[in-house]
Amino acid sequence: SIDFSTFTKQTGLTALDYGFVNTASTRSEITYIDGDEGILRYRGYPIEQLAKGSTFLEVAYLLIYGELPTEEEYLAFENRITRHTLLHEDIKHLFDALPFSAHPMSVLSSAVAALATYYEDSLDVHDPEAVEINTIRLLAKLPVIAAYAHKKSVGQAFLYPDNSLSFVDNFLKLNFGNFAEPYEVDPVLSRALDRLLILHADHEQNASTSTVRLVGSTDANLYASISAGISALYGPLHGGANEAVLNMLAQIRDSGEGVQRFVQKVKNKEDGVKLMGFGHRVYKSYDPRAKLVKESADEVLAALGVDDPLLEIAVELEQAALNDEYFQARRLYPNVDFYTGIIYKAMGFPTRMFTPLFAIGRLPGWIAQWREQNADPKSKIGRPQQLYTGATEREYPNGREFS
Ligand code: ACO
Repeated sequence: SIDFSTFTKQTGLTALDYGFVNTASTRSEITYIDGDEGILRYRGYPIEQLAKGSTFLEVAYLLIYGELPTEEEYLAFENRITRHTLLHEDIKHLFDALPFSAHPMSVLSSAVAALATYYEDSLDVHDPEAVEINTIRLLAKLPVIAAYAHKKSVGQAFLYPDNSLSFVDNFLKLNFGNFAEPYEVDPVLSRALDRLLILHADHEQNASTSTVRLVGSTDANLYASISAGISALYGPLHGGANEAVLNMLAQIRDSGEGVQRFVQKVKNKEDGVKLMGFGHRVYKSYDPRAKLVKESADEVLAALGVDDPLLEIAVELEQAALNDEYFQARRLYPNVDFYTGIIYKAMGFPTRMFTPLFAIGRLPGWIAQWREQNADPKSKIGRPQQLYTGATEREYPNGREFS
């Protein structure tokens, strides 16, 4: 690869690259993807090994600091996060100001942007201590915000975090516990959710991460940058696909039209219908995360004794697409979002909480990428070029008057 910015400056050329399909915006040491071979590694460790042996917090540490933690480092990291889970009481009024029907992704991006207002004395992006404390605050508080968005949407009271619980167990309790009865965390759910968060933790320069970097390139603080990343993740072509997949499966079930008819609609591009949860900008053989998610789906549904007809539709749809020339020719395979919704649904999360779960998983990656850029003396404010295709210079007519 060549340093294109030097080349274009020297030659006066501008490359037009819709969707940045071929343009690298940065060097990075964090995540490696080989889209043809279906390989994903965080800091050199294969995703399959991390999903099997690691925990989400260990992966978060690995992504952010570059190495696996020692036991002492891990416990200190976990402890710091646990001690920062409380939200300022005043920020809870923000939830009161929003309708109960608010989409939790809107709540998440608003609340994260608002968090900055509570920490204005520590927003200096060039102060390593400030960056560090804001890293911990975000990791600790985003799950609490997401759980409160959920509670608000079902009209239930917010619970305080329980510092005796692990990161994931605490999150589950904040979502599914209530004041009326004790809540026992199911270890199968806890492990499955931890594993799913690992699978979402980073994915190099995807749309939301590039957004975090672009906003961060202006020296905007971590909260502003992450809030923008959450907004980018919201879209159905990106993180919002997990919600869209479940809606699609439910629609196939309710319409009674059958999988084959739906596939035909996708192929005919009727009403712009796409097979949500299929296709990926980078993976052109298979998405290694999708395979691991499918394993989790089978495990969780078996453990919970759930027999979800939507899973049957998903399996049928996957097979129909994989055996179809249209999808084969375009190298379209299931992506990470295809089966996650089935698992989240079995766990008891409403459909609109699926993308916030993705956001919690992706947060360490966003932070790691923001910090890598922030520490790189070569980084510059992001400022894409354009090819202007509008009118040439023209005169504004004199004497224009509207009555
Ligand atoms: N269903 C049907 N056709 C599709 C799909 C799909 N899911 N994805 C791509 N195609 C088709 C396109 O229509 C196009 O066909 P054409 O050549 O006949 O016009 C061809 O495949 C190439 O598609 P592009 O749009 O060029 O692929 P791109 O790399 O730009 O898009 C994307 C990738 C956005 C993920 C796309 O595959 C998509 O929309 N998928 C559905 C949404 C989804 O699942 N998103 C989650 C992605 S993973 C993530 O963000 C975590």
